[in-house]
Amino acid sequence: MLGVCYYPEHWPETMWAEDARRMVALGISHVRIGEFAWSRIEPRRDAFDWGWLDRALNVLGNAGLKVVLGTPTATPPKWLMDEHPDIAPIDEEGRPRGFGSRRHYTFSSQTYWRESARIVEAIARRYGEHPAVVGWQTDNEYGCHDTIMSWGAEDLRAFRQWLRRTYQSTDQLNEAWGSVFWSMEVTEFDQVSLPNLTVTETNPATRLDFRRFQSQQVAAYDRMQCDIIRAHSPGRWTTTNMMGFFTEFDHWPVGENHDFVSWDSYPIGFVERFPFSEDERNRWATTSHPDIAPFHHDLYRGIGGGRFWVMEQQPGPVNWAPWNPVPKPGMVRLWTWEALAHGADVVSYFRWRQMPAAQEQMHAGLNLPGLQELSVGGREAESVGRELAGLGALPPNEQASVALVFDYEAQWVLDIQRQGADFRYFELAFRWYEAVRTIGLDVDIVRPGQSLEGYRLVLVPSLPTVSDAAEQAFRDSSAVVLYGPRTGSKTRHFSIPDQLPPGALRDLLGIRITEVSSLRPGLSEAVDGLVSGAAIRWVEHMDVASTALAHFADGHCALAANGRHHYLAAWPDARLLSTTLELLCKRADLKAHALPPGIRMRRRGSLHFAFNYGAESWEIPNDVELVLGERILAPQGVAIWRV
Ligand code: GAL
Repeated sequence: MLGVCYYPEHWPETMWAEDARRMVALGISHVRIGEFAWSRIEPRRDAFDWGWLDRALNVLGNAGLKVVLGTPTATPPKWLMDEHPDIAPIDEEGRPRGFGSRRHYTFSSQTYWRESARIVEAIARRYGEHPAVVGWQTDNEYGCHDTIMSWGAEDLRAFRQWLRRTYQSTDQLNEAWGSVFWSMEVTEFDQVSLPNLTVTETNPATRLDFRRFQSQQVAAYDRMQCDIIRAHSPGRWTTTNMMGFFTEFDHWPVGENHDFVSWDSYPIGFVERFPFSEDERNRWATTSHPDIAPFHHDLYRGIGGGRFWVMEQQPGPVNWAPWNPVPKPGMVRLWTWEALAHGADVVSYFRWRQMPAAQEQMHAGLNLPGLQELSVGGREAESVGRELAGLGALPPNEQASVALVFDYEAQWVLDIQRQGADFRYFELAFRWYEAVRTIGLDVDIVRPGQSLEGYRLVLVPSLPTVSDAAEQAFRDSSAVVLYGPRTGSKTRHFSIPDQLPPGALRDLLGIRITEVSSLRPGLSEAVDGLVSGAAIRWVEHMDVASTALAHFADGHCALAANGRHHYLAAWPDARLLSTTLELLCKRADLKAHALPPGIRMRRRGSLHFAFNYGAESWEIPNDVELVLGERILAPQGVAIWRV
């Protein structure tokens, strides 16, 4: 269940066999290679050099390792960029993004599509049936370094084609976008321009469509790679590696291209990527916030249809965050077990050995820079290897009782028109997730429209556009459901629904939103009733035909219920969120109890895991029989017992 990312091309060939032997000794079964190696595979056009890769695969395979082969399309080589400058992405200010790092391509470049197909086919033909190759990773981290959106001629050409297919006539386009406003109407699709470089804000409907278009380009490009691999590599699986706190493309359709998805877990680096308070950042600086990695495990398990890998696991300090502390001793082990507890098939560390040169020379590996000597993280991986060998196969993951609906379009819509500077969708979703995790409940993250059968409690932090499928799934569900602010607030074409929000959910909820109000930092509105606390950032006023369960101080309803369906007309502060969840857990007949700070639980089948991210020890109830760990769960400790 352990893996590692390895770059044979970075090391003298004389090191490979010993590296492979030491991987196996550590308990590693899988090794990912090749994802940036285009310049070594094809140093000049059509002059392929397969020799080194043949030998690397043989060395790894002979050692008993299973190889995950990456397609090298995240790093088009210099000769290709010189031949075809149109491959380069263009930034929002209209400047080309140059060669010299990675991901310097736009998904809309026809040349790059062709060149990618060519290199993927060459590799898949050569290694598709190699006995050491068990699976494939397409590309590497689609969108990393802000590379989903590109704003050049190639992108405009493809966007116009997409609009033609989507709207058929410019009349329909003008109607959908409300283009009569500010005389934005067009009479030819070739008059459409990209939503950048304008005097003031561009039409939100155009921006939403441009995002949808770019997102679909990613899925189609990825699909093209998968199809080629499948044609030449029978019996092998495909995956792609996704990122943390990343919403620039819709991951659900990309997940459909693959047998399962994987993601790259850098829990400490991500502390800086989330709008935590400074106090929280300091508190979690060397352990990470206890819900960051779990949120993504649950998300990507959902996107992968019930399975996932961690393709890159942080092994020590990274190099790319503003500050890069050494993790507290024990955290590399804890993160590995946390991923396994959430159902990961394999946790693969990034990387085998720290590279003394180039951009990532300050990024730790399982081995010290240039040496065949384990780092602190390497020794922790080794201890997980031993523990796993002792435990045997882990049971399959089971469905949780709580589902959280997560939607990429929600992020785009709410970002395109925030209406309040700090209305951040991902933050809202993460805080709701955190609140359920701190009362000891497991969560599945699901796609809008997915069946909600079997869930007792469904959380919808916000879902501005409610598709027919999503509406149906809510109607069919027998769960207690909580919808958050701005749910149903927009049509598919980014306008206010007929008869007002929450649009299609109006009758289900028995409410109608007549006014919304964003609150500056420091302002709040008290809420009282069956739940209590305060609204911060956002308040809605609604007409209520259903039951009001709590009110704002000015008398407006804050929480409404129509049978099992509840609507919270506010961005809740921590207390309002926790009292609301408490009430809903009761209504859903779910047993929940607050865990001590920093303690988290997770069940995987018959195994129950406890993790201590906090600073204090915690005593595990003594009616359980531990299979790993101590009854006193020390900071950074892991314990496992059978349910
Ligand atoms: C990931 C990437 C790796 C490496 C790593 C460093 O984003 O996939 O190639 O750069 O970060 O943490």
